[in-house]
Amino acid sequence: MAEQVAVPRHIAIVMDGNGRWASRRFLPRIAGHKQGVDALKRIVKACASRHVPVLTVFAFSSENWNRPAEEVSGLMDILALALAREVSQLQRDGVQLHFVGDREALSARVRKGLEDAEVATAGNSLLTLNVCFNYGGRWDIASAAARLAAAGTPITEESLSGALALAHCADPDLVIRTGGEKRLSNFLLWQAAYSELCFSDVLWPDFDEAALDAALQEYASRERRFGQTSQQIAESTETRR
Ligand code: IPE
Ligand code: IPE
Ligand code: MG
Repeated sequence: MAEQVAVPRHIAIVMDGNGRWASRRFLPRIAGHKQGVDALKRIVKACASRHVPVLTVFAFSSENWNRPAEEVSGLMDILALALAREVSQLQRDGVQLHFVGDREALSARVRKGLEDAEVATAGNSLLTLNVCFNYGGRWDIASAAARLAAAGTPITEESLSGALALAHCADPDLVIRTGGEKRLSNFLLWQAAYSELCFSDVLWPDFDEAALDAALQEYASRERRFGQTSQQIAESTETRR
């Protein structure tokens, strides 16, 4: 019988490289972000067909407000447009959408779009898609801790995990960053504690099924030890057989 390849239960992706993709074609950076939406649509389908139940993507960081105003407003427009255009397809594909991040700073139009999309897709169960927008790992941890403190709840690893923005999902098994940089840039600081990290040089707009499969292959070849020794892992696999 063929060896069962481990499929991650949760993949998280830092979708990086849109600007460089556009610059290489002498296009404005925003053209790269638009192309990035198509890459996301492709990868959502690919994850669903590979039976990955949860996909979390980093679309706009707390720090991305520091970009030129024109690029920031272009990104907001792309989000609003994608919400208006894609929700019916997500419905057909059985995708449940969640927005993760600080909504306060977003315009009323964008906020309404997010809420409508979440309500419309709430009954879907094939793939959970978390879109991190105006998200930062530090924001997530600090605001969860502040809420617990305000409620007088003791702060423990368990209570804090349960108060974070991704409490509805298990921690990511695999974190992929495209675009060649090797850093987390404030993504899932708590939840990525034991994730396997995979860095791809492919720029996000070019990220396709083959690039995803390469990351899945790399993931399958890793030994996840969670602090144990290799020998302990081998022994527990033996006893499970
Ligand atoms: C990632 O692509 C998308 C966002 C951060 C919004 P970039 O825009 O960071 O692309 P590069 O890194 O400049 O190529
Ligand atoms: C991280 O990419 C954020 C997103 C992909 C949304 P950046 O391009 O903003 O990260 P840095 O600034 O290079 O670390
Ligand atoms: Mg970047």
